[in-house]
Amino acid sequence: MPRREARSVVGTETVGPYTLLRVARGGLEPGLPGQFFMLEAPGRVLPRPMSLCLAPAGELAFLIDPIGPGTRALCALAAGDRIGILGPLGNGFRLDVERPLLVGGGIGVAPFPYLSERLGEPPAVLGFRTAWHAEAAALVPNAEVVLEPAYVTEVMPAGHDVLACGPEPMLEAVRRLTPHAQLAWEAPMACGYGACYGCVVEIEGRLKRLCVEGPVLAAA
Ligand SMILES: Cc1cc2nc3c(=O)[nH]c(=O)nc-3n(C[C@H](O)[C@H](O)[C@H](O)COP(=O)(O)OP(=O)(O)OC[C@H]3O[C@@H](n4cnc5c(N)ncnc54)[C@H](O)[C@@H]3O)c2cc1C
Ligand code: FES
Repeated sequence: MPRREARSVVGTETVGPYTLLRVARGGLEPGLPGQFFMLEAPGRVLPRPMSLCLAPAGELAFLIDPIGPGTRALCALAAGDRIGILGPLGNGFRLDVERPLLVGGGIGVAPFPYLSERLGEPPAVLGFRTAWHAEAAALVPNAEVVLEPAYVTEVMPAGHDVLACGPEPMLEAVRRLTPHAQLAWEAPMACGYGACYGCVVEIEGRLKRLCVEGPVLAAA
């Protein structure tokens, strides 16, 4: 069950351009890989959705790309600061797959360290803009890294159960190659639990709330 708690920041680590924010777990459950938490960013009215990256004992960790005011405020937190967290929310990845392959790009790799752990460290193909961004691949065991101008879809081996997270054009390309892939999508989210309708997207011709129906959806 999702819970809202005020938790203490344990510490932060720099991973390329990203920040790994480690928070004391308290009574919060880590949930399934691909589920997300709403993190209250200091000085911002609305919380920001973040996938769980790692679930070490007693902690929850989030990999954050500082792209705007909310994410920059989260990355500036320091050990001992307090932060409000709600979760776990949404639908995560199905783990009943026989030959998993993780396919991700950029900050889309954020849920993969926890997903990899839960799936027994399957192979992964991860795409990044630069070698600096690719430092995040060190968090994902058994990862093959491709840098632009090459794309993950050029090196994806066939015959796997694909679990993917990344920018929309990458997910669309993965969907064309592997119609049964599980894909983690993004949309702006204000509440994270179905109340605001801010995350409505068209799914199979019908408008649905991604925070409730997703963020992980079957491609077909
Ligand atoms: C389910 C889910 C899980 C996520 N997990 C992570 C994660 O693990 N790590 C991480 O760094 N980020 C993650 N994100 C994205 C993150 O929530 C946004 O980058 C953040 O809310 C932006 O807030 P901001 O105030 O920094 O920037 P803003 O000023 O709010 O946004 C900066 C720019 O990004 C666009 N934008 C913001 N949010 C989204 C969104 N959700 N989808 C598409 N465009 C958006 C805005 O339109 C704007 O152009 C996730 C999003 C979702 C929906
Ligand atoms: S984020 Fe509010 S309904 Fe989905």
